Amino acid sequence: MTLLSVKNLRAYYQTEVYGISRTVRAVDGVSFELFPNEIYGVAGESSCGKTTLIKVISGNIKHPLKALEGSVNYDFGENRVDMLNVSQDELRRNIRWKEISYVMQGSMSVLNPVRKVIETFRDIVDSHERITDKQKFLEETRAHINRLGLPPDVLNSYPHQLSGGMRQRVAIALATVFKPAMIIADEPTTALDVVVQRGVLQMLKEIQAISNNTILFVTHDMAVHANVADRVMIMYAGRIAEEAPTESIFNAPLHPYTQHLIRSLPMIGEKSTKVSLKGTPPNLANPPSGCRFHPRCPYVMDVCRTEVPNLVTIKDRHRVACHLVKEESV
Ligand SMILES: Nc1ncnc2c1ncn2[C@@H]1O[C@H](COP(=O)(O)OP(=O)(O)OP(=O)(O)O)[C@@H](O)[C@H]1O
Ligand code: SF4
Ligand SMILES: [Mg+2]
Repeated sequence: MTLLSVKNLRAYYQTEVYGISRTVRAVDGVSFELFPNEIYGVAGESSCGKTTLIKVISGNIKHPLKALEGSVNYDFGENRVDMLNVSQDELRRNIRWKEISYVMQGSMSVLNPVRKVIETFRDIVDSHERITDKQKFLEETRAHINRLGLPPDVLNSYPHQLSGGMRQRVAIALATVFKPAMIIADEPTTALDVVVQRGVLQMLKEIQAISNNTILFVTHDMAVHANVADRVMIMYAGRIAEEAPTESIFNAPLHPYTQHLIRSLPMIGEKSTKVSLKGTPPNLANPPSGCRFHPRCPYVMDVCRTEVPNLVTIKDRHRVACHLVKEESV
């Protein structure tokens, strides 16, 4: 069964300032599938379109962002959702929080600074299932918090009384209160120190083990992907460069950009300095022709400047978009 199927998705920011229109091609022909019970990581440098992709798949498409082409379909068993055509009302009532939870980049925004954490829980639960038995709600919320290893007194705290790591864990606890089939988390551990990061990641893994949901999370930190993800997608300039099970991404990366990301990982005991990639990620209002990585690629060929490489399947669930890599004839 496929939980999410994204086909040829194009989502652009279309702005007009002083009569000058500008189109940022942030997600430009992306296709992938997610399956139940997996942890899927999305990686790539800043501005490559990671947040834009998850805004679209979580149904948060607001001006100036537009989904211009493609499809985003969920299969929740009894409930099927065509995300590019679903009404806001249906999203609010039956899908958000219940089927799909989105922990936003800088997720503290979900916590109301002037309300205690328990009140935020109450607001969210009450807006979906009217709370008639307050005692039962309190007991269930305490049990949920406890299951996720959070101390019960967080419920009576204001967000500013909690550390950044604790706030992030509370945001994840909120996102999982209805046991959604799909949890989408944008940079859940960025800005946290390494020890706190480990706690948050451990919590995500435990949630997945308890509730069997699918987690899609975004981070540019490859070490986090190595520790948490079952499969990884590498994005470059609005497109998929490579996608594979985590082991293949780290042991046998095929795209030159993925190889660069893996080589940049710090190794224990290593003394030499890392070679950084020349140039910067392209401007998506005017991306390079052909392979968008060609101005920075150490293996660039003539064909790379003119022809967009197809995303081809190399072997079991390993896909790559690079002219150096040929499709396996299976
Ligand atoms: N509201 C907006 N209006 C116009 N362009 C935008 C808007 N939001 C993002 N963009 C542009 O879209 C492109 C992709 O941005 P996005 O936020 O999806 O990248 P990202 O991979 O999540 O980056 P980061 O790692 O920094 O969070 C960038 O060029 C960015 O400048
Ligand atoms: S298609 Fe060409 S430029 Fe792009 S990654 Fe492959 S070799 Fe490099
Ligand atoms: Mg982002």
